[in-house]
Amino acid sequence: MKRIDLRSDTVTKPTEGMLEAMMKAVVGDDVIDIDPTTRALEDQLAKEFGFDRGLFCPSGTMANQIALMLHTRPGDEIICDALSHIYWYEGGGPAANAGVSLRLLPGERGCLTADLVANAINPENEHAARTALISLENTANKAGGTCYDLDDIKAIRILANKQKLPVHLDGARLFNALIAKGQKPQQYKGLFDTMSICLSKGLGCPVGSVLLVNNAQYNEGRRIRKRLGGGMRQSGFLAAAGLYALNNNIERLQEDHQRAEALANILTECDWVKQVIKPQTNIVIFYPYGEPDNIIKLLNDAGIDIIAMGGGALRLVTHMHISDEDVDNCRRIFSKLAV
Ligand SMILES: Cc1ncc(COP(=O)(O)O)c(C=O)c1O
Repeated sequence: MKRIDLRSDTVTKPTEGMLEAMMKAVVGDDVIDIDPTTRALEDQLAKEFGFDRGLFCPSGTMANQIALMLHTRPGDEIICDALSHIYWYEGGGPAANAGVSLRLLPGERGCLTADLVANAINPENEHAARTALISLENTANKAGGTCYDLDDIKAIRILANKQKLPVHLDGARLFNALIAKGQKPQQYKGLFDTMSICLSKGLGCPVGSVLLVNNAQYNEGRRIRKRLGGGMRQSGFLAAAGLYALNNNIERLQEDHQRAEALANILTECDWVKQVIKPQTNIVIFYPYGEPDNIIKLLNDAGIDIIAMGGGALRLVTHMHISDEDVDNCRRIFSKLAV
C-alpha cells in the first residue's frame, strides 16, 4: 500500500501536465519590470474577482502579511476570528511586520458575523488602539475548512463601509469555498479591499499565492513584497503552474470534498473516536478518546499521516493525490486501529 498523506493539501506534487506547462513558460524578470506569465496569472485572478492587479507571492503568509501592512500603521488593531491563520500560523507576523494587535473574536466555526464585528470596533479616542482592518478567512482552516455564507460577508461589508474600514480576505482555500457553496468568483466583486489566494493548497501547485489589490495599493504592495524578500525573477515558471491549476484543478475539488465526507463518516463509526466535526470542504477535524500523539503514531505505523491541531484535535485533509482506493484503505485501517 502506498503511504496516505493526509497531513495537508500542501503536500501535493505537480502532475505531469503541470510540469509540462511550467517547462514551456515564457519568462522575464519580474523584479526589473514584468514576467509575462506571472502577469497573465495575476491578471486572470484579478479580473475574475474584480480587482485591478495581482501580486504573485511565494507564500500565502507573505500575501497576507503584505495586505496587513498595506491597510494598517503600527499600533493599530485588526479584527479577526480567534482561529485565524494570521494569528496562529504566521510566526507572529502581524506584530513583527505590521506592528499591530489582533482582536480575536469567537466566531461560529471560524466565521464572523457583522454583529460580532460591530461590537469589537474601538471608539475613536486616544485610549484605544485604532481599529484599522477586518480580516476574514474562507475557508477557515483551523475550524475545519468551513465556508462563509455570502450574506454574512455582505453584512460585514456594509458595516465596514459605514465605519470606513477595509476588509481583507485570507482566501488560501477560496476555491474550495466556491465549489462547496456553488458560488462564482464574480459574486465576490466589491466585497473585499484585498484578497489572498493560494495556488499551493488544493490547486496542486508547488509554490505560490496571489494578493489581489487595486491600483492605489499596487506600487506600495510591490515595495512591501520586495522588502519582505518576495520579489521573484523568472517567476513565470511558477506562475505557469498557477495558470494550469486555474484551468484544470478547480472543478475536481468537489472530489476532495466527497472523500473528506467519506473519511468523516468512517471515523464516526470508529469506537476510538469521540467526536467528528462535519466537514464542509476538504478538511476533517476530529477528537479521539486516546492520546492524540499516540493515535498519530499508530496511524503513521500503518502508513497514514495526519497531524494534531492542538486541544486534543486531529486533522486530516484530502487533496489531489488521495484516491477512492486510499479512502478504502483508510476504512480498513481506521476500523482495526487498536487504541
Ligand atoms: C488559511 C490559510 N492562510 C494562509 C496560509 C499560508 O500559506 P503558506 O503556507 O503558503 O504561507 C495557510 C496555509 O496553510 C492557510 O491555511
